[in-house]
Amino acid sequence: MNIRPAEAADRAALEALAAAALPSWPPAAFAPADARQILVAELPAHGVAGFVVVQFALDEAELQALAVAAAHRRQGLGAALTDAAFACARRRRARVMFLEVRASNRAALQLYRRAGFEIYGKRPRYYRDPNEDAVLMRAALDSPLPAI
Ligand SMILES: CC(C)(COP(=O)(O)OP(=O)(O)OC[C@H]1O[C@@H](n2cnc3c(N)ncnc32)[C@H](O)[C@@H]1OP(=O)(O)O)[C@@H](O)C(=O)NCCC(=O)NCCS
Repeated sequence: MNIRPAEAADRAALEALAAAALPSWPPAAFAPADARQILVAELPAHGVAGFVVVQFALDEAELQALAVAAAHRRQGLGAALTDAAFACARRRRARVMFLEVRASNRAALQLYRRAGFEIYGKRPRYYRDPNEDAVLMRAALDSPLPAI
């Protein structure tokens, strides 16, 4: 597996992957932007099999989306993409990474916990179709986080 920054030629593959794995993710969010980093996981015989999108603001990073093609799950791609997102955020001098995830998304919650995220709150009924709470998670990228 190879993890690298997304290129313009990946756009169609990214949109197809998102349509299948994250239907509410807007295709416009794959547009290149200075404050956004999109990394793809590429498998030799299959091409792009996963992606992660990280948005940066000052010394904070937000993991906005992570998806792996259904046929290639449970092979470590999601964890590798999350690690690559951390490395990228550290290079940009971010001190903390945030994310929000559906309360029922046990696969993602488990992956994020194992990657080093901790739960710090929830947003009741944040998601629609179906209505659901968002679980708020964060991970310190360098020093310990202050208590909130
Ligand atoms: C969540 C998702 C990205 C995980 O990708 P993945 O490549 O399968 O994850 P990995 O193989 O790296 O798994 C790493 C760890 O996460 C946990 N995990 C992953 N999938 C899991 C599942 N279905 N059930 C329980 N734990 C799971 C496990 O602890 C796993 O380690 P293990 O395989 O050694 O037990 C993938 O299921 C996906 O694309 N889902 C749809 C989109 C989505 O929900 N994205 C997250 C919200 S933005």
